[in-house]
Amino acid sequence: MRRAIYPGSFDPVTNGHLDIIERGCKLFDEIIISILINPEKQPFFTIEERLEMLTDVVADISKGGCTVRVDSFRGLLVHYAVAQQANAIVRGIRAISDYEYELQMALMNRRLEPGIETVFMMPAETYSYVSSRLVKEVFHLGGQVTGLVPPLVETRMKEKLDQTR
Ligand code: PNS
Repeated sequence: MRRAIYPGSFDPVTNGHLDIIERGCKLFDEIIISILINPEKQPFFTIEERLEMLTDVVADISKGGCTVRVDSFRGLLVHYAVAQQANAIVRGIRAISDYEYELQMALMNRRLEPGIETVFMMPAETYSYVSSRLVKEVFHLGGQVTGLVPPLVETRMKEKLDQTR
């Protein structure tokens, strides 16, 4: 059983994340998408909202044979990964600029838990510039995010903005 953790903030989930999950499904029997509960960050969506959206948008991927679960965690990622009996951590790398930070994390995680491998995956070029941070910035400044996030997420972003107005 090859089980991987795909950790992140997913605030919100983008089409780039979905692309990585689909690719990860070719390598692993099960992927647990794990949202970090980070009390120090002020997120756009609550953990519950992110869990709900992710569960909805990955439903179709799960039908392809690989099991996709959505969960949240706090504390050290490797502790969580061991508790979930995962063998690997999946991270998406879009550009060289991502690599330095990701390498540091991967090596620190390896030091903490040598039994867990980090697997870097590249999204489709179409999503190589897409990040949750940029999506939120563009959205809040009135730009179009269609095609960058799943339609459900775009709808939820609009609803959320209406609520906060
Ligand atoms: O999508 P993000 O926000 O870049 O994801 C970062 C994440 C959640 C993978 C990273 O912050 C993390 O693993 N946090 C958990 C705490 C931890 O294990 N820290 C040590 C990392 S070497």
